[in-house]
Amino acid sequence: MGALALSLTACDHAPSSSGLPEWTAKDHDRSEENARVAQGQAPPSARPRKATPEEEATQIAELTWGTQCTQCHGPLGKGDGPNGAMVKAPDLTRPDWQERVKDADMAATIRAGKGQMPKFELSDAVTAALVKRIRKNRAP
Ligand code: HEC
Repeated sequence: MGALALSLTACDHAPSSSGLPEWTAKDHDRSEENARVAQGQAPPSARPRKATPEEEATQIAELTWGTQCTQCHGPLGKGDGPNGAMVKAPDLTRPDWQERVKDADMAATIRAGKGQMPKFELSDAVTAALVKRIRKNRAP
């Protein structure tokens, strides 16, 4: 309790006149870095803290894709997995389809299944991360 009151006081009176280095937002606010890590742009070595729930969902989605989606959709979603031709898996990277489809539609298909695609009971966060993964692999 005492420490909290002290640190609040310290923040109120920046810049400090005590001779200590001035506290800056850079010392504290890592949200930009967090966003980069969530997008997979920072190496694991630059990640000295616990994963955020969003990062965890992204990691689970990556695992889920590799174990449950790749066999039909292929690594990028082009429909070139080993079973892709058999079930006629569509190319999810097509820009014209990506233009038309809403995130919510993709999530609904993942949840409910469609045609030859089985349904998947995943958390909302993991489903959303799978949608994000499909968006990321959109062809130019
Ligand atoms: C057994 C093969 C199979 C597996 C496994 C599979 N899919 Fe599919 N997926 C399909 C097929 C086939 C379609 C086309 C369905 C249709 O339009 O009739 C499809 C369509 C989709 C679509 C597009 C739906 C639309 O709006 O047209 C998305 C998104 C998708 N799959 C995501 C996933 C994800 C994510 C996973 C893993 C969790 C997955 N699929 C696993 C076969 C599969």
